[in-house]
Parts: sequence; structure tokens; C-alpha cells
Amino acid sequence: MTKISLPKHSKLLSSDFLFGVATSSFQIEGAADQRAPSIWDTFCAEPGRIKDGSDGLHACQHVKYWRQDLDIITELGVDAYRFSIAWGRVINADGSVNRQGLQFYIDLVDALLANGIQAHVTLYHWDLPQYLEDQGGWLNRDTAYRFAEYADIVGRALGNKVASYATINEPFCSAYLSYEAGIHAPGHKNRQEGRQAAHHLLLAHGLAMPVLRRHAPQALHGIVLNFSPCHPASDSEADRQAALQAHQYHNLWYLQPLLEASYPDLLNQLPEADRPDIAADDMATIGQSLDFLGVNYYTRTVFREKNDWFSDVPPQAPPLTSMGWEIYPQGLTEILTDLNQRFANLPPIYITENGAAFPDEVRDNQVDDAARIDYYQQHLLAVHDCIEAGVTINGYFAWSLLDNFEWAEGYSKRFGIVYVDFDTQQRILKSSALALQTFWLQRKTQL
Ligand code: NOJ
Repeated sequence: MTKISLPKHSKLLSSDFLFGVATSSFQIEGAADQRAPSIWDTFCAEPGRIKDGSDGLHACQHVKYWRQDLDIITELGVDAYRFSIAWGRVINADGSVNRQGLQFYIDLVDALLANGIQAHVTLYHWDLPQYLEDQGGWLNRDTAYRFAEYADIVGRALGNKVASYATINEPFCSAYLSYEAGIHAPGHKNRQEGRQAAHHLLLAHGLAMPVLRRHAPQALHGIVLNFSPCHPASDSEADRQAALQAHQYHNLWYLQPLLEASYPDLLNQLPEADRPDIAADDMATIGQSLDFLGVNYYTRTVFREKNDWFSDVPPQAPPLTSMGWEIYPQGLTEILTDLNQRFANLPPIYITENGAAFPDEVRDNQVDDAARIDYYQQHLLAVHDCIEAGVTINGYFAWSLLDNFEWAEGYSKRFGIVYVDFDTQQRILKSSALALQTFWLQRKTQL
């Protein structure tokens, strides 16, 4: 596969569909000395936490090379760029505003607009300032209120220049992986903590929404969730129940509070000691209307029953990406058509992330990543199928623009459509970037 193509009548080819590339602050920025340390700096410094022992101190040095990166984004022919803001680059430990840090994002947004590219901002992509973690992080209800203050500062500075504001990226990861499974910073392993962090993240979202709306009434406001269809490992009743529980715990736990102001029934099946504390008005605060739902999709997940609960079964059979994730494009169509049926008020969707890590190699200054082109082709067709099935999807962002710091995997996994040599900071457009570029530029000429 060397080419991306879609049926001629596809909505993806129309002018009201948006194409973009995505990144996040900690994964690309570097310039750690110009911001407050985050929980990921602390986590990286703990031996054994990151697979290759690396950290985010330099990453893609995007703060230094952002103008070159912007040139690449512009050349690609995308309509939009999704990036996140580092909380600790905007607010210092003493509560004062880091003017230089904030200016970085103002300049970036201005330059994007000057180049005709929409800015899609995520306020929280996992890099909680360590000074807040020192006060309990997402286990402390106060962090949600601090988040609303941070949203106030960013909203005031960027206002309507930004096309969309997403409050939180993948609260599942910041709650479950971070406080319950111990895989992400701060690396806690405690179910009650996982549930409590999830609740405070959703509350933070709810508190920030009106603040952002006030500062940017013309922008779209929403949140980004990750979804994965949960399939049973066998036909047994026990495994089928396990898959349904996993769906409630991993997918609906975040969406249902937002759309229906309630948690899934599974909450009542948890031992009382594991349930989150929920204050009287919280669910109403969380369940405000959204202008859009950001959807991150990578793969499906298979579960079996274990001790009356669910346990995931890692995929064995190819095709797998280098994360060990099954390539399963039909899962995107399945989960979104399913959610569209389940929720009458499902907001318009942006696919805010989709992409894959493969073992890329540079030969003659080129990276031939045919498998990634194939991945994008198949998933874009899946988006097309979703739309044909009646789901409202208004945009698609490739994850990621650049190879970057892949969290607990460090730099060992490359998700970029642009290759980064982390020693020299050279960027090389992979074949996938060139294929997408051809597709995007052709699309523009036909609009
Ligand atoms: C989702 C996260 O938002 C992003 O930061 C991460 O790199 C990708 N998944 C790939 O794992």
C-alpha cells in the first residue's frame, strides 16, 4: 500500500471535514528548564518506570524548533493542528503566571492562524505539575478547582483564536493507568484511588467548561476520550459478562457521566470502600452539554473472566503494531455506531487520535513505512463507514506528527508520520507523511 484513497462521494473529501495532525506537550516540547516539573519528570527519574530509561527533558525540542515543525505541518496540507498546553509552563509553583511560557503558546497559535491552520488545544494531556501532585494530585478535589483557574488563564490568553478546546485528554489513562494500574505517573496501584481520580478529572472538566465558554464563545468546547471495543475471549457466559463489565469500566465510565450525568451501574457492584466520593452537585457539573467529543482510537481489547471481574488477554496473532496492539479498524466503526445507538445525545465527533507505532528504519535518508500507510488507509475507510452508518464525524487527526516520548515506552516506540532523530533532532518525512500529504493536497484542490 503506497497510496491513500477514499470513495469519491465520501464526506471525508468535503470541505466541512477537517484533517489534522496531533501531538502533546510533554511528548514533544523539551525545554523542561523553562517550566515547573511535572509528575512525568518525577516518574521518569524513578528507576524502572520507563522502558528505555529515558525522560522528557529534551524530547523533540519542539520549543526550540517549533517554527520548523510548523513549516512541516503547513507543507503537509492539513486544515488543523491539535496540541496540548503544559500546565506547568503556564502556571508556576507559587501560582504566578509564567509569561514566557504562555507567550510560547500565543505565538504558536498566531503562527498557525497566519499559515491558515486551525488550532485545536487540549488543556490537560497528563503532565500534571508536580507541585499539585505534592498536594495529592488528582486524589485531591482541589486539583479540579486549580484546573478551572488554569483554564481561565489559557482561555483569556487564547480566546476565540482557538477553534476547539478539549479540557482533558483520555481521563481513563490519567485515572486508571496512573492511579489504579501503576503504569503511568504517578504510578499508584489502588482501585479506590483510580475511581477517585477519574471523578476529579471529570469534575475538573465540568468546572472548566463554563470558564472556557466565557472566554471563547466562538470556539467549540469538549473533551477527548479513548475508546476500545471490549470483546469476550470465548463464548462462555462468564467471558461475555467480563467483556461487558470492561466496557462499562473503560469506556462508559467516562462518557456516561458526561452525557447522562450518571456513572454506569457497575459502580454499585464495587465494594463500598472502592467507590469514589461524589459531592451533591458534581454529576450536574460534569454532565453539561458538549460541542464535540474527541475520540482516540487505536485497537480493540479482548477480556476473560477472572475472579468475578475482567482481565485482558493480550493479542497473539498478527497483524500487530510494535505496541503489540492488534490492527483492528472495524473496531472503530463498531464502537462508534454502538455509542451512537446507546446515546441519543452523542455530540459531533472529532477523531482526535489514530495511528500506529512500527519499527521504522532510516535508509538513504528515507523511511519506508508502508505498514503505517496501510493502517491509515484502513482506518480512514472505517471513519467513512461510521459516517455512512449515521455517526456525525467532523474531523480526523493523525497521531502523531512526530516520533515522540511514548510515556512508559520512552522513545522505543515511534508513532510519528515524521521521523525524529533524537540525537541530531533531524526530521524526515516518512512515506506515510508523503502519502497523507498527497492525499491532503489533492483533496484541497478538489474542494
Ligand atoms: C493516546 C495518548 O493520548 C497519546 O499521548 C499516546 O502517545 C497515544 N495514545 C499512543 O499510545
